[in-house]
Amino acid sequence: MDTSMTLLLLLLSVVVSASGDKLFPQFYDRSCPKAQQIVKNVVQNAVAKETRMAASLLRLHFHDCFVKGCDGSLLLDNSSTIVSEKGSVPNRNSARGFEVIDRIKDALEKECPQTVSCADILALAARDSTVLAGGLGWEVPLGRRDSLGASIQGSNRGIPAPNNTLPTIITKFKLVGLDLVDLVALSGSHTIGNARCTSFRQRLYNQTGNGQADATLDASYAAQLRTRCPKSGGDNNLFFLDLVSPKTFDNYYFKNIVAGKGLLSSDQVLFTRSGATMALVRRYAENGAAFAKQFAVSMVKMGNISPLTGTKGEIRKNCRKVNS
Ligand code: HEM
Ligand SMILES: *[C@@H]1O[C@H](CO)[C@@H](O)[C@H](O)[C@H]1NC(C)=O
Ligand SMILES: *[C@@H]1O[C@H](CO)[C@@H](O)[C@H](O)[C@H]1NC(C)=O
Ligand SMILES: *[C@@H]1O[C@H](CO)[C@@H](O)[C@H](O)[C@H]1NC(C)=O
Repeated sequence: MDTSMTLLLLLLSVVVSASGDKLFPQFYDRSCPKAQQIVKNVVQNAVAKETRMAASLLRLHFHDCFVKGCDGSLLLDNSSTIVSEKGSVPNRNSARGFEVIDRIKDALEKECPQTVSCADILALAARDSTVLAGGLGWEVPLGRRDSLGASIQGSNRGIPAPNNTLPTIITKFKLVGLDLVDLVALSGSHTIGNARCTSFRQRLYNQTGNGQADATLDASYAAQLRTRCPKSGGDNNLFFLDLVSPKTFDNYYFKNIVAGKGLLSSDQVLFTRSGATMALVRRYAENGAAFAKQFAVSMVKMGNISPLTGTKGEIRKNCRKVNS
Protein backbone atom coordinates (compact mmCIF):
# COMPACT_ATOMS: atom_id res chain seq x y z
CA MET A 1 0.00 0.00 0.00
CA ASP A 2 1.46 3.43 -0.91
CA THR A 3 1.46 6.30 1.52
CA SER A 4 -1.35 8.28 -0.14
CA MET A 5 -3.60 5.24 0.09
CA THR A 6 -2.71 4.75 3.76
CA LEU A 7 -3.39 8.41 4.39
CA LEU A 8 -6.77 8.19 2.63
CA LEU A 9 -7.77 5.17 4.68
CA LEU A 10 -6.64 6.85 7.84
CA LEU A 11 -8.65 9.96 6.95
CA LEU A 12 -11.68 7.83 6.10
CA SER A 13 -11.57 5.98 9.38
CA VAL A 14 -11.31 9.29 11.21
CA VAL A 15 -14.35 10.64 9.34
CA VAL A 16 -16.32 7.45 9.91
CA SER A 17 -15.60 7.34 13.61
CA ALA A 18 -16.28 11.07 13.93
CA SER A 19 -19.71 10.68 12.36
CA GLY A 20 -20.24 7.37 14.10
CA ASP A 21 -19.95 7.94 17.81
CA LYS A 22 -19.22 11.52 18.73
CA LEU A 23 -21.85 14.19 19.16
CA PHE A 24 -21.24 17.58 17.54
CA PRO A 25 -23.25 20.82 17.34
CA GLN A 26 -23.37 20.93 13.51
CA PHE A 27 -24.96 17.48 13.20
CA TYR A 28 -28.18 18.77 11.57
CA ASP A 29 -26.67 21.72 9.68
CA ARG A 30 -27.18 19.98 6.32
CA SER A 31 -29.94 17.48 7.05
CA CYS A 32 -32.22 19.89 8.91
CA PRO A 33 -30.78 23.41 8.97
CA LYS A 34 -33.81 24.89 10.73
CA ALA A 35 -33.90 22.26 13.49
CA GLN A 36 -32.50 24.43 16.28
CA GLN A 37 -34.70 27.40 15.34
CA ILE A 38 -37.81 25.22 15.33
CA VAL A 39 -37.05 23.82 18.78
CA LYS A 40 -36.40 27.29 20.14
CA ASN A 41 -39.64 28.72 18.72
CA VAL A 42 -41.82 26.04 20.29
CA VAL A 43 -40.01 26.24 23.64
CA GLN A 44 -40.31 30.04 23.57
CA ASN A 45 -44.09 29.84 22.99
CA ALA A 46 -44.53 27.27 25.74
CA VAL A 47 -42.51 29.26 28.28
CA ALA A 48 -44.32 32.49 27.31
CA LYS A 49 -47.57 30.70 28.21
CA GLU A 50 -46.22 29.21 31.44
CA THR A 51 -42.91 30.28 32.97
CA ARG A 52 -42.49 27.03 34.89
CA MET A 53 -42.28 25.07 31.64
CA ALA A 54 -38.62 26.11 31.33
CA ALA A 55 -37.87 24.25 34.56
CA SER A 56 -39.94 21.23 33.60
CA LEU A 57 -38.18 20.87 30.24
CA LEU A 58 -34.74 21.27 31.80
CA ARG A 59 -35.54 18.45 34.22
CA LEU A 60 -36.68 16.10 31.44
CA HIS A 61 -33.18 16.03 29.92
CA PHE A 62 -31.74 15.08 33.34
CA HIS A 63 -34.29 12.31 33.88
CA ASP A 64 -33.60 11.03 30.37
CA CYS A 65 -29.81 11.03 30.64
CA PHE A 66 -29.61 9.29 34.02
CA VAL A 67 -31.48 6.25 32.69
CA LYS A 68 -29.69 4.25 29.96
CA GLY A 69 -28.06 7.48 28.76
CA CYS A 70 -29.52 10.39 26.79
CA ASP A 71 -31.65 8.29 24.46
CA GLY A 72 -35.20 9.61 24.76
CA SER A 73 -36.22 6.53 26.79
CA LEU A 74 -38.08 8.78 29.25
CA LEU A 75 -40.51 9.84 26.53
CA LEU A 76 -41.89 6.38 25.69
CA ASP A 77 -45.44 5.69 26.85
CA ASN A 78 -46.71 2.35 28.14
CA SER A 79 -47.35 -0.18 25.39
CA SER A 80 -47.54 -3.96 25.04
CA THR A 81 -43.75 -4.14 25.13
CA ILE A 82 -42.80 -1.07 27.18
CA VAL A 83 -43.26 -0.12 30.82
CA SER A 84 -42.98 3.63 30.73
CA GLU A 85 -40.41 5.47 32.87
CA LYS A 86 -43.16 8.05 33.37
CA GLY A 87 -44.56 5.75 36.07
CA SER A 88 -41.36 5.67 38.17
CA VAL A 89 -41.18 7.24 41.65
CA PRO A 90 -39.20 10.31 40.51
CA ASN A 91 -41.45 10.89 37.48
CA ARG A 92 -44.96 9.93 38.58
CA ASN A 93 -47.15 13.02 39.27
CA SER A 94 -44.03 15.08 38.74
CA ALA A 95 -42.29 14.98 35.35
CA ARG A 96 -44.07 17.26 32.91
CA GLY A 97 -43.70 19.00 29.58
CA PHE A 98 -44.25 15.95 27.38
CA GLU A 99 -46.85 17.78 25.28
CA VAL A 100 -44.29 20.47 24.47
CA ILE A 101 -41.84 17.79 23.29
CA ASP A 102 -44.67 16.39 21.09
CA ARG A 103 -45.25 19.81 19.58
CA ILE A 104 -41.54 20.21 18.81
CA LYS A 105 -41.43 16.75 17.26
CA ASP A 106 -44.50 17.43 15.10
CA ALA A 107 -42.96 20.65 13.78
CA LEU A 108 -39.66 18.89 13.06
CA GLU A 109 -41.36 15.97 11.29
CA LYS A 110 -43.06 18.46 8.97
CA GLU A 111 -39.77 20.20 8.18
CA CYS A 112 -37.50 17.13 7.87
CA PRO A 113 -39.12 13.73 8.46
CA GLN A 114 -37.38 11.20 10.68
CA THR A 115 -34.21 13.24 10.98
CA VAL A 116 -34.02 14.87 14.42
CA SER A 117 -34.07 12.51 17.41
CA CYS A 118 -36.26 12.93 20.48
CA ALA A 119 -33.11 12.67 22.62
CA ASP A 120 -31.62 15.68 20.81
CA ILE A 121 -34.89 17.58 21.21
CA LEU A 122 -34.58 17.13 24.98
CA ALA A 123 -30.98 18.40 24.96
CA LEU A 124 -31.86 21.47 22.88
CA ALA A 125 -35.01 22.24 24.88
CA ALA A 126 -32.97 22.10 28.12
CA ARG A 127 -30.50 24.66 26.78
CA ASP A 128 -33.22 26.92 25.34
CA SER A 129 -35.14 26.76 28.63
CA THR A 130 -32.05 27.79 30.60
CA VAL A 131 -31.52 30.80 28.33
CA LEU A 132 -35.20 31.81 28.41
CA ALA A 133 -35.07 31.76 32.22
CA GLY A 134 -32.17 34.19 32.13
CA GLY A 135 -29.22 31.79 32.17
CA LEU A 136 -26.15 31.50 29.99
CA GLY A 137 -26.41 29.31 26.88
CA TRP A 138 -24.05 26.76 25.35
CA GLU A 139 -23.56 24.93 22.08
CA VAL A 140 -25.39 21.62 22.24
CA PRO A 141 -23.54 18.61 20.80
CA LEU A 142 -26.03 16.65 18.66
CA GLY A 143 -26.44 13.33 16.90
CA ARG A 144 -28.08 11.23 19.61
CA ARG A 145 -30.48 8.54 18.45
CA ASP A 146 -33.59 7.21 20.20
CA SER A 147 -33.86 4.05 22.26
CA LEU A 148 -36.03 1.08 21.40
CA GLY A 149 -36.92 0.53 25.05
CA ALA A 150 -37.34 2.06 28.48
CA SER A 151 -36.28 1.08 32.00
CA ILE A 152 -38.55 1.87 34.91
CA GLN A 153 -36.12 0.10 37.27
CA GLY A 154 -33.31 2.24 35.90
CA SER A 155 -35.42 5.32 36.55
CA ASN A 156 -36.23 4.28 40.12
CA ARG A 157 -32.65 3.34 40.92
CA GLY A 158 -30.59 5.80 38.92
CA ILE A 159 -32.26 9.14 39.56
CA PRO A 160 -31.37 10.53 43.01
CA ALA A 161 -34.23 10.98 45.49
CA PRO A 162 -34.64 14.16 47.53
CA ASN A 163 -34.15 12.23 50.78
CA ASN A 164 -31.03 10.35 49.62
CA THR A 165 -27.91 10.90 51.71
CA LEU A 166 -25.08 12.89 50.13
CA PRO A 167 -22.92 9.76 49.63
CA THR A 168 -25.81 8.07 47.80
CA ILE A 169 -26.33 11.09 45.57
CA ILE A 170 -22.60 11.30 44.85
CA THR A 171 -22.58 7.60 43.95
CA LYS A 172 -25.51 7.98 41.58
CA PHE A 173 -23.72 10.80 39.78
CA LYS A 174 -20.45 8.85 39.69
CA LEU A 175 -22.23 5.90 38.09
CA VAL A 176 -22.95 8.06 35.04
CA GLY A 177 -19.51 9.66 34.97
CA LEU A 178 -20.34 12.92 36.75
CA ASP A 179 -18.17 14.26 39.57
CA LEU A 180 -18.65 16.53 42.61
CA VAL A 181 -18.30 19.71 40.55
CA ASP A 182 -20.97 18.49 38.13
CA LEU A 183 -23.24 17.52 41.03
CA VAL A 184 -23.09 20.92 42.69
CA ALA A 185 -23.30 22.90 39.45
CA LEU A 186 -26.17 20.85 38.01
CA SER A 187 -28.07 21.02 41.30
CA GLY A 188 -28.12 24.75 40.54
CA SER A 189 -31.00 23.89 38.18
CA HIS A 190 -33.11 24.18 41.31
CA THR A 191 -32.81 27.95 40.89
CA ILE A 192 -36.03 27.58 38.87
CA GLY A 193 -39.13 25.45 39.14
CA ASN A 194 -41.26 23.85 41.82
CA ALA A 195 -41.36 20.89 44.17
CA ARG A 196 -44.35 19.21 45.79
CA CYS A 197 -44.86 19.12 49.54
CA THR A 198 -44.38 15.36 49.47
CA SER A 199 -40.79 15.84 48.23
CA PHE A 200 -39.65 17.58 51.44
CA ARG A 201 -42.36 17.05 54.11
CA GLN A 202 -40.18 14.70 56.14
CA ARG A 203 -37.77 17.60 56.78
CA LEU A 204 -40.52 19.68 58.35
CA TYR A 205 -41.77 17.14 60.90
CA ASN A 206 -39.64 14.07 61.44
CA GLN A 207 -36.34 14.25 59.61
CA THR A 208 -34.38 11.64 61.57
CA GLY A 209 -37.25 9.67 63.09
CA ASN A 210 -37.10 11.52 66.44
CA GLY A 211 -40.08 13.74 65.68
CA GLN A 212 -37.91 16.80 65.05
CA ALA A 213 -37.61 19.03 62.01
CA ASP A 214 -34.35 19.00 60.05
CA ALA A 215 -31.96 21.06 62.18
CA THR A 216 -30.15 22.33 59.09
CA LEU A 217 -33.34 23.99 57.83
CA ASP A 218 -33.83 27.65 58.79
CA ALA A 219 -36.54 27.66 61.49
CA SER A 220 -38.65 30.53 60.17
CA TYR A 221 -38.50 29.16 56.64
CA ALA A 222 -39.60 25.76 58.00
CA ALA A 223 -42.55 27.38 59.81
CA GLN A 224 -43.54 29.13 56.60
CA LEU A 225 -43.38 25.88 54.64
CA ARG A 226 -45.48 24.01 57.23
CA THR A 227 -48.44 26.35 56.61
CA ARG A 228 -48.97 24.85 53.16
CA CYS A 229 -47.29 21.49 53.71
CA PRO A 230 -49.19 19.93 56.62
CA LYS A 231 -48.27 16.68 58.37
CA SER A 232 -50.78 14.89 56.22
CA GLY A 233 -52.58 15.99 53.07
CA GLY A 234 -51.54 18.62 50.57
CA ASP A 235 -49.07 16.21 48.98
CA ASN A 236 -49.20 17.98 45.63
CA ASN A 237 -49.07 21.55 46.92
CA LEU A 238 -46.32 23.34 45.03
CA PHE A 239 -43.38 25.34 46.42
CA PHE A 240 -40.64 27.29 44.71
CA LEU A 241 -37.28 25.54 44.79
CA ASP A 242 -35.63 28.99 45.00
CA LEU A 243 -37.67 31.16 47.36
CA VAL A 244 -35.91 34.40 46.37
CA SER A 245 -36.00 34.40 42.56
CA PRO A 246 -38.01 31.30 41.62
CA LYS A 247 -38.36 32.10 37.93
CA THR A 248 -34.90 33.43 37.14
CA PHE A 249 -31.89 31.31 36.33
CA ASP A 250 -29.38 32.90 38.71
CA ASN A 251 -27.23 31.81 41.67
CA TYR A 252 -29.78 32.44 44.46
CA TYR A 253 -30.16 28.68 44.82
CA PHE A 254 -26.65 28.65 46.32
CA LYS A 255 -27.15 31.77 48.44
CA ASN A 256 -30.30 30.19 49.85
CA ILE A 257 -28.47 27.02 50.78
CA VAL A 258 -25.80 29.01 52.62
CA ALA A 259 -28.66 30.64 54.56
CA GLY A 260 -30.21 27.27 55.50
CA LYS A 261 -33.01 27.76 53.00
CA GLY A 262 -32.50 24.93 50.56
CA LEU A 263 -35.93 23.39 49.98
CA LEU A 264 -34.99 19.74 49.48
CA SER A 265 -32.81 17.75 51.83
CA SER A 266 -30.70 16.89 48.74
CA ASP A 267 -30.10 20.61 48.26
CA GLN A 268 -29.14 21.39 51.86
CA VAL A 269 -26.79 18.41 52.30
CA LEU A 270 -24.50 19.87 49.63
CA PHE A 271 -23.64 22.49 52.23
CA THR A 272 -23.81 20.51 55.46
CA ARG A 273 -22.38 17.08 54.71
CA SER A 274 -19.07 17.59 52.93
CA GLY A 275 -16.35 20.20 52.97
CA ALA A 276 -15.71 19.75 49.27
CA THR A 277 -19.29 20.37 48.17
CA MET A 278 -19.66 23.12 50.77
CA ALA A 279 -16.74 24.99 49.21
CA LEU A 280 -18.35 24.68 45.76
CA VAL A 281 -21.71 25.93 47.08
CA ARG A 282 -19.94 28.93 48.64
CA ARG A 283 -18.05 29.63 45.44
CA TYR A 284 -21.18 29.62 43.27
CA ALA A 285 -23.08 31.67 45.88
CA GLU A 286 -20.38 34.33 45.67
CA ASN A 287 -19.72 34.15 41.95
CA GLY A 288 -22.73 33.86 39.63
CA ALA A 289 -20.55 33.93 36.53
CA ALA A 290 -18.49 30.97 37.76
CA PHE A 291 -21.73 29.03 38.32
CA ALA A 292 -23.13 29.90 34.88
CA LYS A 293 -19.91 28.82 33.18
CA GLN A 294 -19.64 25.52 35.05
CA PHE A 295 -23.35 24.81 34.58
CA ALA A 296 -22.90 24.99 30.80
CA VAL A 297 -19.86 22.70 30.93
CA SER A 298 -21.61 20.18 33.17
CA MET A 299 -24.78 20.19 31.07
CA VAL A 300 -22.73 19.25 28.00
CA LYS A 301 -21.08 16.51 30.07
CA MET A 302 -24.46 15.21 31.25
CA GLY A 303 -25.71 15.34 27.65
CA ASN A 304 -22.86 13.05 26.64
CA ILE A 305 -23.93 10.17 28.91
CA SER A 306 -23.83 7.07 26.67
CA PRO A 307 -25.77 8.32 23.67
CA LEU A 308 -26.88 5.97 20.90
CA THR A 309 -25.11 6.96 17.70
CA GLY A 310 -24.41 5.72 14.19
CA THR A 311 -26.83 2.93 13.39
CA LYS A 312 -27.83 2.17 16.99
CA GLY A 313 -31.41 2.84 18.01
CA GLU A 314 -33.60 4.83 15.63
CA ILE A 315 -35.03 8.26 14.91
CA ARG A 316 -38.54 8.03 16.30
CA LYS A 317 -41.39 9.56 14.32
CA ASN A 318 -43.38 9.97 17.52
CA CYS A 319 -41.44 10.47 20.74
CA ARG A 320 -44.01 8.44 22.69
CA LYS A 321 -43.52 5.18 20.78
CA VAL A 322 -40.96 3.19 18.88
CA ASN A 323 -41.36 3.04 15.10
CA SER A 324 -43.22 -0.07 13.98
C1 HEM B 1 -28.82 16.14 42.74
C2 HEM B 1 -29.85 15.33 42.76
C3 HEM B 1 -31.24 15.81 42.48
C4 HEM B 1 -32.34 15.52 43.21
C5 HEM B 1 -32.40 14.66 44.45
C6 HEM B 1 -33.45 16.19 42.60
C7 HEM B 1 -34.76 16.12 43.04
C8 HEM B 1 -35.79 16.91 42.59
C9 HEM B 1 -37.11 16.93 43.15
C10 HEM B 1 -37.60 16.04 44.30
C11 HEM B 1 -37.83 17.85 42.49
C12 HEM B 1 -39.29 18.22 42.73
C13 HEM B 1 -40.19 17.19 42.10
C14 HEM B 1 -41.61 17.25 42.60
O1 HEM B 1 -41.81 17.46 43.79
O2 HEM B 1 -42.52 17.08 41.76
C15 HEM B 1 -36.97 18.43 41.49
C16 HEM B 1 -37.33 19.41 40.62
C17 HEM B 1 -36.52 19.90 39.62
N1 HEM B 1 -35.26 19.42 39.29
FE1 HEM B 1 -34.12 18.21 40.42
N2 HEM B 1 -33.02 16.89 41.52
C18 HEM B 1 -31.67 16.68 41.39
C19 HEM B 1 -30.87 17.15 40.37
C20 HEM B 1 -31.33 17.87 39.29
C21 HEM B 1 -30.58 18.10 38.09
C22 HEM B 1 -29.19 17.54 37.80
C23 HEM B 1 -31.36 18.87 37.27
C24 HEM B 1 -31.10 19.39 35.89
C25 HEM B 1 -29.94 19.36 35.28
C26 HEM B 1 -32.59 19.12 37.99
C27 HEM B 1 -33.62 19.92 37.56
C28 HEM B 1 -34.80 20.14 38.24
C29 HEM B 1 -35.77 21.15 37.87
C30 HEM B 1 -35.59 22.22 36.83
C31 HEM B 1 -36.87 20.99 38.74
C32 HEM B 1 -38.19 21.75 38.73
C33 HEM B 1 -39.13 21.08 37.75
C34 HEM B 1 -40.50 21.72 37.57
O3 HEM B 1 -40.79 22.77 38.14
O4 HEM B 1 -41.29 21.13 36.81
N3 HEM B 1 -32.54 18.48 39.18
N4 HEM B 1 -35.74 17.83 41.57
C1 LIG C 1 -47.87 1.66 32.83
O1 LIG C 1 -48.43 0.42 33.13
C2 LIG C 1 -48.18 -0.01 34.47
C3 LIG C 1 -48.72 -1.41 34.68
O2 LIG C 1 -48.92 -2.08 33.50
C4 LIG C 1 -48.81 0.95 35.44
O3 LIG C 1 -48.53 0.55 36.77
C5 LIG C 1 -48.25 2.33 35.21
O4 LIG C 1 -48.89 3.27 36.04
C6 LIG C 1 -48.40 2.74 33.75
N1 LIG C 1 -47.64 3.96 33.55
C7 LIG C 1 -48.18 5.07 33.11
C8 LIG C 1 -47.25 6.23 32.98
O5 LIG C 1 -49.35 5.20 32.81
C1 LIG D 1 -37.39 8.49 51.17
O1 LIG D 1 -38.65 8.74 50.61
C2 LIG D 1 -39.26 7.60 50.05
C3 LIG D 1 -40.49 8.05 49.31
O2 LIG D 1 -41.31 8.87 50.09
C4 LIG D 1 -39.56 6.61 51.20
O3 LIG D 1 -40.16 5.47 50.67
C5 LIG D 1 -38.25 6.26 51.86
O4 LIG D 1 -38.50 5.47 52.99
C6 LIG D 1 -37.50 7.50 52.30
N1 LIG D 1 -36.16 7.12 52.72
C7 LIG D 1 -35.61 7.56 53.83
C8 LIG D 1 -34.21 7.12 54.09
O5 LIG D 1 -36.19 8.30 54.60
C1 LIG E 1 -40.99 9.69 63.37
O1 LIG E 1 -40.49 8.63 62.57
C2 LIG E 1 -40.23 7.48 63.34
C3 LIG E 1 -39.51 6.48 62.44
O2 LIG E 1 -40.11 6.40 61.20
C4 LIG E 1 -41.52 6.96 63.94
O3 LIG E 1 -41.28 5.78 64.70
C5 LIG E 1 -42.14 8.04 64.83
O4 LIG E 1 -43.40 7.62 65.30
C6 LIG E 1 -42.29 9.35 64.06
N1 LIG E 1 -42.65 10.39 64.97
C7 LIG E 1 -43.61 11.28 64.72
C8 LIG E 1 -43.85 12.32 65.74
O5 LIG E 1 -44.26 11.27 63.69
